[in-house]
Amino acid sequence: ARRMHETGIRVVRVGEFAWSRLEPERGTFNFDWLDRAIDTLHKAGMEVVLGTPTATPPKWLIDEFPAILAVDENGNTRGFGSRRHYCFSSPEYRVECQRIVTAVASHFGQHPAITAWQTDNEYGCHSTIASYSPAAALAFQRWCKSQYKTIDDLNRQWGNVFWSMEYRNFEEIPLPCGAVTELNPAHRLAFYRFSSAQVVSFNQLQVEILRAHSPGRDILHNYMGNFTEFDHHAVGRDLDIATWDNYPLGFLDRDSNNEADKQKWYRTGHPDSSAFHHDLYRGVGNGRWWVIEQQPGPVNWAPHNPSPAPGMVRLWGWEALAHGAEVMAWFRWRQAPFAQEQMHSGLLLPNGEDDVAIAEIRQLMTEQAALFEDIDIPLPAAEQAPVAIVFDYNGDQALRIQSQGANFDIGQWTQQLYTACRRCGVDVDIVPVDADLSRYKLVILANTAIVTAKLAEELQRGSATVVIGPRCGSKTEDYCIPPELPPGALQQLLPIAVTRVESLPDFVTFTVQADGEQYIAHRWREYVKTALEPAGVFDDGWGFHFKHERVHYLNCCLDEASLNQFMQRRIEEAGLPVIQCNEGFRIRQRGPYIFGFNFGPDVIELPDEPKLLIGDTRVIPGEVAIWRTP
Ligand code: GAL
Repeated sequence: ARRMHETGIRVVRVGEFAWSRLEPERGTFNFDWLDRAIDTLHKAGMEVVLGTPTATPPKWLIDEFPAILAVDENGNTRGFGSRRHYCFSSPEYRVECQRIVTAVASHFGQHPAITAWQTDNEYGCHSTIASYSPAAALAFQRWCKSQYKTIDDLNRQWGNVFWSMEYRNFEEIPLPCGAVTELNPAHRLAFYRFSSAQVVSFNQLQVEILRAHSPGRDILHNYMGNFTEFDHHAVGRDLDIATWDNYPLGFLDRDSNNEADKQKWYRTGHPDSSAFHHDLYRGVGNGRWWVIEQQPGPVNWAPHNPSPAPGMVRLWGWEALAHGAEVMAWFRWRQAPFAQEQMHSGLLLPNGEDDVAIAEIRQLMTEQAALFEDIDIPLPAAEQAPVAIVFDYNGDQALRIQSQGANFDIGQWTQQLYTACRRCGVDVDIVPVDADLSRYKLVILANTAIVTAKLAEELQRGSATVVIGPRCGSKTEDYCIPPELPPGALQQLLPIAVTRVESLPDFVTFTVQADGEQYIAHRWREYVKTALEPAGVFDDGWGFHFKHERVHYLNCCLDEASLNQFMQRRIEEAGLPVIQCNEGFRIRQRGPYIFGFNFGPDVIELPDEPKLLIGDTRVIPGEVAIWRTP
């Protein structure tokens, strides 16, 4: 504890997997060891976030109630021996969670060191949102009943007449698994919504207990990167803070299919990967967010696990602060010499000596403390960026259910739009579909496959430039093509109808002249029927990009360089100043301070002799610079 404090760390999370030690046998609680640990941390001046241990039901509990275990889509029970082996729909497990959370919260809830609680750990990690257990089947049928008045409504709205999929009553509805070929996408989307709602109610049970036994403490959850299998905005509404677990090198190697990116950024992480999630989780937390796990060195779970480039651990820490993080914490303090994560580095080696990252963390914490002393205007707690990307978990899932093209990756496309903005030096908020959009200068729709009338009205209400990407508004809430054709309710904003779409393998590209530029389209194109003149026409007559007043519809995917140029034009049109950023350089403004980050291999010379608070006008690779706006 003393060494943590000396490092500059003030917040530590403990206990998130400790059920077998807290309750070694049913009803026998052993809190002494954790009392001692929390007292020790408290005396050393640390604040403690205590995790509820529900991500790891112990062996005795599973033996008592084997039905707690989740079932995969092939009908195999997901066994004991690692973690997250529970089904969100198990009624027995909910009772058991209430019991352990009540015991832990009533014992520790008033401890002065405990300033926050973490519910469970990484909902969904290891593909654990969906469970195909008998309990899930029953709960799904009940959920369907609550959503549709009659079975006839459900049959009609899902289109079950197709392939004789009609049900006579709700009790006949199976879980969407095990079919011969593609399942009805409406069935799958409904199951996604149901599974997401199960996470929300599972989390709520814990939140109610924690609020009752430990009032005044913040409650948070640690979400993951590149993960959309439940609606984070819905879970976030019941919590005080959104936190997330940031592993920039692991994410790149595991989640990207762009080999060039993997080569460029394997020791730094993609320059927009952390930032994208910071901005997303700021929205999920309604302004309040932390990084609760930050990669300090090689991890153990990606296909390859390189060591971060020198300076990156410090850079990632500054970057989180620049995007508004209240707290930054690292995973983990000391490398465990045993079990699954023994190859995962920490701040200390398994023998307790310092590992390499701790020196950078010490530097970061010392510099941050000095900066806070120095500056006359404090960093603002919450600020609105000029650009909003509307992010919809439901829409994201809808587009994954029928991707229609193997290389149409909605997650990647959303992040490319984000990159295009960040290359122009503009800050971005990533907001839910029900956000107030009226004060933004530019609003971007990326994954909103399902557009409600309410969202269309909100877009009409403001004066922002609106950029609508392909496939937005292409589905109804029940996964049908809208009766007025895509982009559905967005037709209130511009008079177009999409009559044909095509998805294309990567070897096909199209060039078009528009905006005085040459753009390259690939992967996805839409044929649009409209009286509007397209901004450009492909050789085969398909239009490229339609504009009506302040609303743009981009009816294809653009390659990275083209998308960057296309978005730069829209940013300029929205009246925002563009500060061109080199491929590896990013800036972010917070209050009157601008933070610059060099992820790339080139030295960046800052123009105009800024008044620097940290760093140098020559920003070398892996370095950070902070300056005051003129
Ligand atoms: C997170 C998790 C931690 C640990 C870490 C390893 O997914 O919350 O418990 O497993 O990854 O990188």
